[in-house]
Amino acid sequence: MSTTTINPLRIGSIELEHPFVQAALSGYSDWSMRALAREYGASYTVAEVMIDRFASEVKVSGKTAHHFRVEDSDHPVGAQLMGSDPEKFIVAAKRLVDSGFDVIDINFGCPVKSAIGGCRGGYHLGEPESAIKIIQSVRDTVPGEIPVTVKMRRGIDDTSESRDNFFQILEQAYSCGVAAVTVHGRTVEQKYIGPSNWDFLREVKEFAGENTVLGSGDLFSAEDCVNMLQQTGVDGVTIARGAIGNPWVFQQARNLLFENQSPNPPSIHEQRTALERHLELALLHHKESAIGAIRKFGFKYARLHPQTVALRKAFSKLRSIQDWERLLAENYAHDGPGIFPVVDEIQRP
Ligand SMILES: Cc1cc2nc3c(=O)[nH]c(=O)nc-3n(C[C@H](O)[C@H](O)[C@H](O)COP(=O)(O)O)c2cc1C
Repeated sequence: MSTTTINPLRIGSIELEHPFVQAALSGYSDWSMRALAREYGASYTVAEVMIDRFASEVKVSGKTAHHFRVEDSDHPVGAQLMGSDPEKFIVAAKRLVDSGFDVIDINFGCPVKSAIGGCRGGYHLGEPESAIKIIQSVRDTVPGEIPVTVKMRRGIDDTSESRDNFFQILEQAYSCGVAAVTVHGRTVEQKYIGPSNWDFLREVKEFAGENTVLGSGDLFSAEDCVNMLQQTGVDGVTIARGAIGNPWVFQQARNLLFENQSPNPPSIHEQRTALERHLELALLHHKESAIGAIRKFGFKYARLHPQTVALRKAFSKLRSIQDWERLLAENYAHDGPGIFPVVDEIQRP
């Protein structure tokens, strides 16, 4: 792979250090995952999606404050909203800006049944007028220096009507002043079955011209990330399933793109250091419920260890912080080479 000159990734007034971004991941990209991703080299991170009603109405208390958490070391960080009511979006967006988020991202991609049934997420890809109304309302309300961005799938389905709707929303989004659009190259109907269509991403970037486009879908390694940039021309990529339990991917992709340096899997001791740090961050964030929040990550980290299957089982049985520490002491004490995760494993829900 040759060394490449790549334009800097800009999201409005924010210029990012490199194009490798931590994607929004419901159930995962909480404060602790985002903090770790930044420490390991992500240039920008996006929080888990929040429903407009929740973000606009919830009383911020001990139990809910973590959704709004932003620390000095987190910047730049995006918040993401999903909903059906422009008025609620406005209140929620203001609240998130006041909490310290640097970017407001609007989710028009979620394929989950309850989201579609509630006229949220991917539902809007079939309703360009309502989608544009939401974008316009948020853009008009949020202070000018805060970029507003949109996350979309490539359509509801494979019909030409769906495609037309996609490009209508895309064009209008940029006209409304949206600073960047992230496109996941699967349809809503597709959910996670079958590949993300990277040819479509190339078309989107050609259509968008100078406007910023980030690509999403099937980014499971540093090579995938660089390939997407080079094959589609998108300005940045958002790493999703490939970054869960694999915070090394950001730096590996950066080194591959800018220094032509092929990645090695993290050694067992490097994995242990990350697992210990992840626990520390989860304890800061989730306190007594940290183990519940972090166990599913352990399961994913196990993919990088030569004893993947046995470790997955062991992580799934953890009940306490002491169990976590014992597991690390027993399985990560001796250094040695790690392995790259198998793609089929990464794709598992
Ligand atoms: C568990 C999970 C949760 C997700 N949550 C969100 C979310 O909150 N907001 C969002 O825009 N996309 C979300 N996505 C979609 C991802 O950001 C990404 O677009 C998608 O997984 C495709 O990338 P991949 O094939 O590289 O995983 C989620 C995906 C998964 C697997």
